[in-house]
Amino acid sequence: MADDPQSPMGDLHPYAERFGVIDAFPEKGRPRQEVLRELQEIARQEDSFWQTGQCSGTMYCGDTEHYAFLNDVCSLYSHVNALQRDICPSATRFEGEIAAMALDLMHASAAVGEGPDAKPCGSVTSGGTESIITAVLMYRDKFRSERGISEPEMILPTTAHPAFEKGAHLFGVKVVHVPVDPESTLVEVDRVREQINDNTIMIVGSAGNYPYGTIDPIEALSDLALERDVALHVDGCLGGFILPWGEQLGYEIPVFDFRLAGVTSISADTHKYGFGLKGTSVLLCRDRALRRHQYFATPEWPGGKYNSPGIAGSRSGGLLASAWASMVSLGREGYLRYAKAIFETSFEMQEVVKSHPELKLMGKPTFCFSFSSDRFDIYHVNDFMKERGWRFNGQQYPNAIHMCVTRPQTRPGVVERFAEDLAPAVKYALDPPNETPISAAIYGGVPTEVPGIQEMVKGALFKYLDSCQDLPPGHGD
Ligand SMILES: Cc1ncc(COP(=O)(O)O)c(C=O)c1O
Repeated sequence: MADDPQSPMGDLHPYAERFGVIDAFPEKGRPRQEVLRELQEIARQEDSFWQTGQCSGTMYCGDTEHYAFLNDVCSLYSHVNALQRDICPSATRFEGEIAAMALDLMHASAAVGEGPDAKPCGSVTSGGTESIITAVLMYRDKFRSERGISEPEMILPTTAHPAFEKGAHLFGVKVVHVPVDPESTLVEVDRVREQINDNTIMIVGSAGNYPYGTIDPIEALSDLALERDVALHVDGCLGGFILPWGEQLGYEIPVFDFRLAGVTSISADTHKYGFGLKGTSVLLCRDRALRRHQYFATPEWPGGKYNSPGIAGSRSGGLLASAWASMVSLGREGYLRYAKAIFETSFEMQEVVKSHPELKLMGKPTFCFSFSSDRFDIYHVNDFMKERGWRFNGQQYPNAIHMCVTRPQTRPGVVERFAEDLAPAVKYALDPPNETPISAAIYGGVPTEVPGIQEMVKGALFKYLDSCQDLPPGHGD
């Protein structure tokens, strides 16, 4: 399936024929210029897809000048190992200042208390998943040492990112899922309350969640966290670097940060709406004692007194430098300007969706919106739009598709193209040539009542992951 160019997953090996397949260590090196030319050709081809503005999320800045600037910055430090601070104190500057800027955005001053530890702080990780799994580790160890909880549980809205489950899987935490309200798409706080018990270490809310871009009732979750004395992690990986600008611009964005006393940690991705290069995120903690639970040190190793602040060991100084450079080169003024265009574009696109009575917006979205239909399987719309060069992200339970609006959509003509293509897509979906949409096979929900079906799907996903890392069939066997 994965090697079939017609597969909805795409062709995993489109370069095999053009450039050959390297299945053994090359005896001789190739001239640098030749290597560079080959890679430029591939990169140009791949960039041309999202540069149309028809691709949801993933390319948050999309500004080639900004990327070139960040790559220049990165190249100054990309060979530097941020673990070895004696030879790169620059990394300490970058990391401390990235965290300070993010803390400022999240109103951390509201959380400063008495004593040296009662001060918010942060760390830089490799991405949203690492920030989240680090938070799970922190809370597991905090509550193990402070309350002796040996069978920890976390309560997750069904819309929370799978990174929490991954953290739970890695660190032995039980996941208790609570459903979201089907209309608002937000977690029901009373359902969270019902699930809290003596083993609960953390509850979670998203600002906003990946499926629908909607923002959980963080204020009510914060009150609940205080009432039941559990941690509250706010997942701002997606929204953390855009929603605060939306609030300043006067959009209806509820408070989700350290202004709420029950919020104990926040993740926010510099490699998403922070417009940095891929490979950085921040994890912010309400106090310094909490951050210490992610540290690791082993003083007895023959190789020296090893210590590292999080999951990773060696890290590239280049990525830290480029995240820092993105933030200081844009400043509040630059981020506000970009955010204004993103919010305006998203609301214009949402109006286009609303103009079709057959389509239904999910909840009350802002920069990222999802839509579904009660009339037909929305993946028929997706099939048609795919043919017109659109790439949405697919949801299930219920089937829906989302557009996470980023800067490439703010270019002139993209909203108009969306309107022009969506109208015939709706017509197509009302009378499709085949009953089952092609893309539903991959992205749509499977019938949960069929015994063992999710295990079968998991098996297929594992096979896909194998294919993503292997040579094309017939090579290297
Ligand atoms: C809400 C949310 N949380 C966490 C993540 C995980 O981030 P990453 O893919 O950088 O690991 C994402 C990714 O899209 C997300 O949307």
